[in-house]
Amino acid sequence: MTTSSSAEELTYTCPDCGNVVKPYVISVLGETRYIKRKCDCVLERVAKEAAERMEIERRERINRLFNLAELGPRFSECTFESWIPRRGAERCFELAKEYADNFDEHARRGDGLLLMGEPGNGKTHLAAAIVNHLVLRGKTCVFRSVPALLKRLQETYREGSRVTESEVLAVLQDADLLVLDDMGAEKVTEWAESTLYFIVDERYRWKKPLVVTTNCKLEVLEERIGTRTIDRLLEMCVLIENRASSYRRERAKARLGVRRA
Ligand SMILES: Nc1ncnc2c1ncn2[C@@H]1O[C@H](COP(=O)(O)OP(=O)(O)O)[C@@H](O)[C@H]1O
Ligand SMILES: [Mg+2]
Ligand SMILES: [Zn+2]
Repeated sequence: MTTSSSAEELTYTCPDCGNVVKPYVISVLGETRYIKRKCDCVLERVAKEAAERMEIERRERINRLFNLAELGPRFSECTFESWIPRRGAERCFELAKEYADNFDEHARRGDGLLLMGEPGNGKTHLAAAIVNHLVLRGKTCVFRSVPALLKRLQETYREGSRVTESEVLAVLQDADLLVLDDMGAEKVTEWAESTLYFIVDERYRWKKPLVVTTNCKLEVLEERIGTRTIDRLLEMCVLIENRASSYRRERAKARLGVRRA
């Protein structure tokens, strides 16, 4: 017959924090029993370590599928610091900067941005600047053009693909910020239309922010990606029109001028 330990025997001083840890007291068939207890500081440490491990795994999962480094130096050079003030783009710049500076607050509300305007006037630059700013502050961000993203999803259907579609979709939903660049770049298929809606709607349901850029006007965008997705986007995002002219074209013109001189 085993004799059960007394309360005194099971009471100890935690070597880590110095607290006196008393056992649990339970009653078994009318008899009082004592069970040795782990110190709260140990339980807290175990929980913290588990949370840290999960966070590391989450980052690795996102990075494995959508590594920002793959986007190259052109991407990492797009920052708020490298932005040149241009007429028509002032508000767009201000709001993008404000969004990045107060990201936590916006993210809590699930608020995003929809940057709209002529091609080449800096929308992708500003979206990338937001991402570069947030990554430096430890946020996980996925940045992809919509055509590239759809292609990435289609690749998962191929035989022998190492990732499944649902793994990719899970990562898109998981990232602190998802940037969908160049929405409406092409008329999408029915599959793409419902996939895009799914991605946007998942972010919406979990109150997770989206930043979207598009070179299209709303009517064209609607025609290309469907009404449902547009409606969701407008609900989640502040619409900002970048009214600047194409910087790309301006630079090309300047280069031409130099060569002629
Ligand atoms: N105001 C700006 N300051 C610095 N670079 C800019 C500015 N606007 C655009 N660019 C640069 O011009 C090129 C085209 O801009 P981009 O952001 O790709 O245009 P959009 O996405 O609006 O079509 C990019 O190389 C970008 O870095
Ligand atoms: Mg762009
Ligand atoms: Zn302790």
